[in-house]
Amino acid sequence: MSDKVFIFDTTLRDGEQVPGCQLNTIEKIQIAKKLELLGVDIIEAGFPISSPGDFKSVVEISKATKHVTICALTRSVEKDIDVAAESLAYAKGRGRIHTGIGTSPMHIKYKFNTTPEAVIERAIAAVKYAKKYVEDVEFYAEDAGRTDNEYLARVIEAVIKAGATVLNIPDTTGYCMPEEYGAKIRYLKENVKGIDKAILSTHCHNDLGLATANTLAGVYNGARQVEVTINGIGERAGNTSLEEVVMAMKTRRGDFPYHTDVNPIHIAATSKLVASLMSMPVQANKAIVGRNAFAHSSGIHQDGVLKHRENYEIIDPKDVGYDTSIVLSARSGKAALKHHISELGVEVTPKRLKEVYEEFLKLADAKKDIKEEDLLVLLGEERRSKRKIKIELLQVVCGKTLEPMATVRLNVNGEIKQKTCAGLGPVDAAFKAVKRILNDENYQLEEYLVQAVTSGIDDYGKVHVQVSYKGKNYYGFGTDRDVITASVEAYVDAISKI
Ligand code: KIV
Ligand code: ZN
Repeated sequence: MSDKVFIFDTTLRDGEQVPGCQLNTIEKIQIAKKLELLGVDIIEAGFPISSPGDFKSVVEISKATKHVTICALTRSVEKDIDVAAESLAYAKGRGRIHTGIGTSPMHIKYKFNTTPEAVIERAIAAVKYAKKYVEDVEFYAEDAGRTDNEYLARVIEAVIKAGATVLNIPDTTGYCMPEEYGAKIRYLKENVKGIDKAILSTHCHNDLGLATANTLAGVYNGARQVEVTINGIGERAGNTSLEEVVMAMKTRRGDFPYHTDVNPIHIAATSKLVASLMSMPVQANKAIVGRNAFAHSSGIHQDGVLKHRENYEIIDPKDVGYDTSIVLSARSGKAALKHHISELGVEVTPKRLKEVYEEFLKLADAKKDIKEEDLLVLLGEERRSKRKIKIELLQVVCGKTLEPMATVRLNVNGEIKQKTCAGLGPVDAAFKAVKRILNDENYQLEEYLVQAVTSGIDDYGKVHVQVSYKGKNYYGFGTDRDVITASVEAYVDAISKI
């Protein structure tokens, strides 16, 4: 059995299904380039039949990358496969079609209203059809986690015979226990004819917080591809996180004598890029990439780490790219700035570089150490300037004995409007004024999070909000050295998306 575990990244497909976090094509290209630099083997770039945007993303990501395999998702439907094949035209020999169908009793009955035998026929037909276009065909048995192993083995054997070379066994609903999922993979390894010539793949969702454990159980029992997302993002509780699986296998090499082509040094920067472009903050205590993942606060631990790092750390933060050294200062030139921007996976035109450089110099005047996070903030200014709603003025009055008041002036598609409101605090007052200007009371603030970008009194405040509107969630992101301005920026960002 091969000792390589292939890393299949689905941040741009399953990860991007997070409500309200959709990326535009340029942002997807930035992430794809970063993933290629990180060393993933396959990028699932989209579900081309689902929207023109997804189709375009697969095309553009194929053009923008060089070595990585580009994968397009389909249902077991000929039209889906035609469109996926068309979208992969530029991947030239690096294209993979990922087709499949639900195999659990639940899906067979309530999704397709058909029989187990008919599902096998559809699966075979889809794989054969995809095979007309590309050599590399992956098949997924949706809801395999709740599919009986004996039937699952029949499905898998049939699609291998039809030409599938990678077999994805998704725990679509995150239902399995690690032992159960591992046993499923082992059962397929031991009972499916032809499995030795194919690769079994894990695809675990995190509904019970077991996605990483299940994925590792899969590898332990013979899977040689893992489907993962950066920061574990994805629908509901998300997918298996790339950084957790890669670092678990590396840290416990004795249990997992396999290798991946991921270079962990790029993990931190990739995580930050995804969090920033998707406006999805990483939970503070998230393994590997949370801001507290390597923070030691108790005196005993701090003392222990100072004496010998390994007393309390099983991973050196530097190995995953957390080098706290300063990257730029006020004396840095445009070339250094360009270099660090491209390290973040972002490409800028000469005109944009000039604009960012001007902003950079202003920031560097006020804040002596400029770090990667600060650059992401500067680059985010571009998104801010493209918004249809812009903040023209924000003025707040607040204090211990004062009633908090805010005056907000917005430019809404070119029309200037202004309102003043009182509130429980300055942020509440400002949000009320925004709602009053837009004359719509349906915006509900569901979540509000303030963080410092790096550290220090001269730091940027970073605010994430989640706003619900008529049953749907939208995320907004704002940064400013004044947290009230950052809050209103975030609120307006979310509302602009609505
Ligand atoms: O979770 C799942 O089953 C999926 C498939 C479409 C691969 O994402
Ligand atoms: Zn999934």
